Amino acid sequence: MDPVRNPFAPGAGSQPPELAGRQLIIEDARVAIERALLGKPSRSQMFLGLRGVGKTVLLNAVETMAKERGHFTSIIEAPESKPLGELLLPRVHQVLRKLSLTDNAKAKVHDAMRALRSFASAFKFEYGDLAIAVDPEVGIADSGDLENDLPELFVRVGEAAKAAGKAWTLLIDEVQYLGQKDLAALIVSLHKINQANLPVLFFGAGLPQVAALSGEAKSYAERLFHYPDIGALSESDAKAAIRQPVNDEGARIEDDALTEIFLKTRGYPYFLQEWGHQSWNLAQGDTITLNDARQAEARTLKRLDEGFFKVRFDRLTPKEREYVIAMAKLGNGPYRSSDIADALGETAQSLGPRRAQIISKGMIYSPSHGDIAFTVPMFNNYLIRNLAIIV
Ligand SMILES: Nc1ncnc2c1ncn2[C@@H]1O[C@H](COP(=O)(O)OP(=O)(O)OP(=O)(O)O)[C@@H](O)[C@H]1O
Ligand SMILES: [Mg+2]
Repeated sequence: MDPVRNPFAPGAGSQPPELAGRQLIIEDARVAIERALLGKPSRSQMFLGLRGVGKTVLLNAVETMAKERGHFTSIIEAPESKPLGELLLPRVHQVLRKLSLTDNAKAKVHDAMRALRSFASAFKFEYGDLAIAVDPEVGIADSGDLENDLPELFVRVGEAAKAAGKAWTLLIDEVQYLGQKDLAALIVSLHKINQANLPVLFFGAGLPQVAALSGEAKSYAERLFHYPDIGALSESDAKAAIRQPVNDEGARIEDDALTEIFLKTRGYPYFLQEWGHQSWNLAQGDTITLNDARQAEARTLKRLDEGFFKVRFDRLTPKEREYVIAMAKLGNGPYRSSDIADALGETAQSLGPRRAQIISKGMIYSPSHGDIAFTVPMFNNYLIRNLAIIV
């Protein structure tokens, strides 16, 4: 079929033509967003899941919804190096400038600007062109201890939002890359905001290890957040994710083709988009047949291997590659750390640092004590398929 009209959207953060299977999560977010505007307490959420399941897309959908309903929003993708404070600085500044347009909020915005100024100075964050034309407020957000200063800043921003009758939604993607101190300070800040019942909402997204990282940073994180599990789609949702966009373009897809795609992708959103995309391009006439879906396999795997999978693998050192290949050779995960060690002829203890390094790169995680699994769905199959060319 005409590739120009191909509706599918394989790609990191690409808006899918049909956001299937996430209605309940979106609905929860909507309720939280509207409650915040009414000054009612609402819980922050962390979307946790493997690579390519649609966390970024969900975060973007929530941001759009928050904006439409009158929140000011700030969205950040945590990089592996930059401190959180430095990333927040220009965003908080922008939110305060917007809030300052409301007459009732002017005094509170002024206070918050002063806190921001103190915060920037205390941590020597570069703020380049940002003109923070107020004097810092001595004793607020200037101790140099992030766990003290970030909450004070957040409370000031929350008070300014409240005075304006508005709300602020902060969204952070790739939360697992935040430094431990940054994560702890963020959690304390959200806790303070909660206690003071201020209209500030937080939505995070990250790999499954974020739950444990948050718990280690602050034990009460468990009660502070909802952790909706973002996973593969159910059979009916996965089929809808393919069927709906095809129908919307005035074309059709055979039921057998949908079943084939579901079975091969196991309902993982990234794989669904790629498979749908290739099947569409292969189809003749106005119907995607079972044969098209089967034919699409080779092209789909080639695209995934050269893109989605390879970019992850390329980030590993030779020693780290050895480790993940040993995992893949053991079959489907999760894997026992001790089994991987046996396969490599080493002890689990001596492999500890290597394992920690691969975890920090977001390639593997520990679903339970002593176990290890890939954060990328079906990564073991990719490695086995490509053993000849990657080693
Ligand atoms: N609910 C959904 N239904 C159909 N397709 C989806 C859905 N959610 C995401 N997708 C598609 O899946 C792909 C991956 O989405 P996204 O980049 O949001 O995943 P992610 O979880 O953020 O991945 P990563 O951990 O690699 O950042 C995109 O092509 C997107 O269009
Ligand atoms: Mg993402």
